[in-house]
Amino acid sequence: MAVRKIAVLTSGGDAPGMNAALRAIVRIGDGFGMEIIGIRRGYSGLLARDFEPLTSQDMSDTVQKGGTILFTARCKEMMEERYQIQAAEILKEENIDALVVVGGDGSFRGAQALAAQGINVIGIPATIDLDLACTDYTIGFDTAVNTAMEAVDKVRDTSTSHERISIIEVMGRHAGYIALWCGIACGAEEILIPETYDYNDKLLIERIRERAATGKKKHIIINAEGVGQSEALAARIENATGIESRTTILGYMQRGGAPSSRDRVMASLMAQQAIEALLEGRVNRVVVYREGMVQDLAIDEALSMQKALPEKLVALTKRLVRR
Ligand code: F6P
Repeated sequence: MAVRKIAVLTSGGDAPGMNAALRAIVRIGDGFGMEIIGIRRGYSGLLARDFEPLTSQDMSDTVQKGGTILFTARCKEMMEERYQIQAAEILKEENIDALVVVGGDGSFRGAQALAAQGINVIGIPATIDLDLACTDYTIGFDTAVNTAMEAVDKVRDTSTSHERISIIEVMGRHAGYIALWCGIACGAEEILIPETYDYNDKLLIERIRERAATGKKKHIIINAEGVGQSEALAARIENATGIESRTTILGYMQRGGAPSSRDRVMASLMAQQAIEALLEGRVNRVVVYREGMVQDLAIDEALSMQKALPEKLVALTKRLVRR
């Protein structure tokens, strides 16, 4: 398959390192003589034909930038077949040989739908949530966890000074990976994640009481966005234990900022894998990191996988807490 002209878009929630991926797509693709078309605002921009040719030079000064220079969007229309057909027709009219989609699960579902309409697609995983079953690494996760960790360290200082309980809510609507990593890295006493939390505070409050009885008042509780209700939980804990409890919701700060070195390098490696796959005729694939290697999998297989709970991490969270 001759790949002369490719298009690239970023879609869904932005993630630090998306620009590093775009830069590598453009520069590596350009090195192989490809014409690269950037599509602004994800699938919404595709439907609106919001295109801009991208050259190697255009990508200067982007590797260190957070966010995405192509902008992003969550495009509900792409869930409907008539818009999927329309998007595929636009790409065919523009003579695009392959579309590179940088994003998370929803973005990959859009790419899968386009593949069913005869478009060659390849996905590069980028989401701070690390909630894709097919890959052990998603671009943006490392930066987001480090950002959250630094913020929690700061909250801890004031929490310790005031001998308070701090509930710190981190992102992750459906997945607790940021909460788990950040909680372990910050020495949290409790980590609540949507995959396991049963909304029964009794045991949690009992554990806090037991630790308080040994003189420990200050507690750091990391709560994933998917569990939510942090303010209400703080009020219940304060009522039950008599220890002042405060809530901090970190929110979108976790999605911004300069990407970590790991996110920049992984984004570049994953982009290289995407271009190599296209050159070798492997299309309708997703770039993944599995068994310590960047590789690519068939998109249908990748999206049919179920993410298992990281049991070892969950066990670790309990074992590290002071008795
Ligand atoms: O990008 C992932 C994520 O940050 C989730 O953790 C969060 O629930 C969601 O995006 C929020 O997205 P939006 O930008 O639509 O509010």
